[in-house]
Amino acid sequence: EPQIIRTIGELRAAVSTYRKSDLTGKIGFVPTMGYLHEGHASLIRRSAAENGLTVLSIFVNPIQFGPNEDLDKYPRDEARDLKVAAASGASIIFLPTVAEMYPTKRVTTVSVNEVSDFLCGASRPGHFDGVATVVAKLFNIVQPDRAYFGMKDAQQVAVITRMVQDLNMPVEVVPCPIVREADGLALSSRNVYLDTKSRSEATILSKALAKSESWISEGTTAADLISRISSAIKGQSAIADIDYVDVLAYPGLTHLEQGKPLASIDADVLIAVAVRFGQTRLIDNKLLNPA
Ligand code: PAJ
Repeated sequence: EPQIIRTIGELRAAVSTYRKSDLTGKIGFVPTMGYLHEGHASLIRRSAAENGLTVLSIFVNPIQFGPNEDLDKYPRDEARDLKVAAASGASIIFLPTVAEMYPTKRVTTVSVNEVSDFLCGASRPGHFDGVATVVAKLFNIVQPDRAYFGMKDAQQVAVITRMVQDLNMPVEVVPCPIVREADGLALSSRNVYLDTKSRSEATILSKALAKSESWISEGTTAADLISRISSAIKGQSAIADIDYVDVLAYPGLTHLEQGKPLASIDADVLIAVAVRFGQTRLIDNKLLNPA
C-alpha cells in the first residue's frame, strides 16, 4: 500500500529514508491535480517501471487557474484517486493543502517566456507562470531524478523542459504519449463536465487532427492546415466554439516560416487545438515531423 503524506516535512523525511536505503535507486515523480484517469495511471505505471520509488502528487494548484476558470468546481475524489494510485504502483502519494504549499504571500514566480506566448499561454494569461512555479516548488520538495508529463499538455511539457534546462534543475523530464478513449477523445479530468451532446461531438478534435497528415501530404501550408482544421471542427459541430487552432515549431513553440508546405519541414511540428463546448474547454494536439 502506498504511503499517504500531507506535509512537506514528512515527504522530505520519507524521500530521505528511501535515498539512504537504496543509494543507487531512482525517484520518479508524477505531478497531478487528481481526479485520476487512465492518462494519469499510464504516467504512474511508467514511473513505477523505471524507478525504485514513485511519488505521485495530487494538488489542485490555485495559482494556475484564471479568475473566471473552474478552480472551485474542479472535480475531486480523493478516495478513488488513492485506489487508482495504489493499483498503478505509486509508492508515496503526496496530498498537500493549499496552506501547506502557499503558507505566506508568495513574491517569487517562475516565468518561462516565449514558449508560453501562444496556444494556452495566450488564452490563459498567467497559467504557465502558475504551472512552472508549482512544478519548481514540487521538484524542490520531492527532488526526483525523473518527472513524468503527458503530451496531452504539449505546451506544459515544453515549458517544464525549458525551465529545467534554463535553471539547471537536476531532473529528467519524461514526455509520455496521450491516452485516448476508444473513439479518440483524449482523456481529461474535465471530460466529466461534458453533457451527452458535447461528449459525442468532442470527438471532432481528434478526428480533425487525424486528418492533418493526409492534408499535409497534399502540400498544405500551416495557414491552410489551420483553416482546414477549423472548418472541419465548425462543419461537424454547431456548439463547438474554437478557442485556437495553431501549427507551431516544437518544442520552441514559435511560428513556422509563412507559405512553406509543411511537408518540406524537417523538424517537429505541433498541431494544437482548444475548443469550448459550453463552459468546458478541451485541448488536443498532434506532434509530427512532416518531412
Ligand atoms: P493534470 O491535468 O492533473 O495532469 C497531470 C499529468 O497527467 C500531466 O502531465 C498531464 O499531461 C497528464 N495527462 C492528462 N491527461 C492525459 C492523457 N489523456 N494522456 C496522457 N497524459 C495525460 O497537468 C497538470 O495536472 C498540472 O498542470 C500540474 C503539472 C500537476 C501542475 O499543477
